[in-house]
Amino acid sequence: MTIQKWWAKYRAQQPITLLTAYDATMARLIEMAEADGVLVGDSLMHTFFGESSTVSMQLADMLYHTRAVKNGVSHTMIIADMPFMTYGISVEDTLRNAAALIQAGATAVKCEVRANHVPMIARLIQEGIPVMGHIGVQPQYIHEAGGYSLKGGSESEAAALMALARQLSDVGVFAVVLEKVPMDVSREIRDAIHCPTIGIGAGPHCSGQVLVTQDVLGLTPNFSPKFVKKYMDGTHQIVSALKAFKQDVDTRVFPTEANGYTR
Ligand code: KIV
Repeated sequence: MTIQKWWAKYRAQQPITLLTAYDATMARLIEMAEADGVLVGDSLMHTFFGESSTVSMQLADMLYHTRAVKNGVSHTMIIADMPFMTYGISVEDTLRNAAALIQAGATAVKCEVRANHVPMIARLIQEGIPVMGHIGVQPQYIHEAGGYSLKGGSESEAAALMALARQLSDVGVFAVVLEKVPMDVSREIRDAIHCPTIGIGAGPHCSGQVLVTQDVLGLTPNFSPKFVKKYMDGTHQIVSALKAFKQDVDTRVFPTEANGYTR
């Protein structure tokens, strides 16, 4: 899947699906499910590292996980998150850090964009690095926002989101993630800009959807916001399988001679 194919789906008004992966095993499963892209999201700080925010993510961590995801897919587009403060400080740092992610295997990078970042985003695109913007709730700015509550609820916030989305579209991002914004706002943004909108908690009026795969698989039992749909009870199913293994070992049902080797 290339960005050109994403755009073909967008022009044909076909929904685009994006799921997160942090390792080759999950990336392979996502490719088998024929999703349109794999996001190496900095949500891995929650799901992989068990931390309470994404702020502590380092570029080295993202490079490591991007390399692993690359080894799990053959043709699916990989988007790597640029960690907190690895973009936006200077053009040189932004370019160098994005280039490292592309060299690690990403097709494109995603940035939680503020208005002052737009010139640097434009520069990345000029240098041939595809960028996905991420607006609305921006978990990297949790300390400023004080929480993960809805963005765009007031007229002024909605207008600011619209202005930023337009700027991003104008400088040529290939897509914009809208996280936890009201449905009417996401619809207006979708209709106003010239690239796909990928929603998470933004309702049904986006060009596509992204979810964290651990949420989809029911592996995050203590996290059930209404924008998540769980397609299996992964926690229960995996714990049952692990218990069955333990039970078999405890009772000497496994391994048997059939699992052993002869000389
Ligand atoms: O880090 C992440 O996984 C993300 C998605 C939830 C959009 O940014």
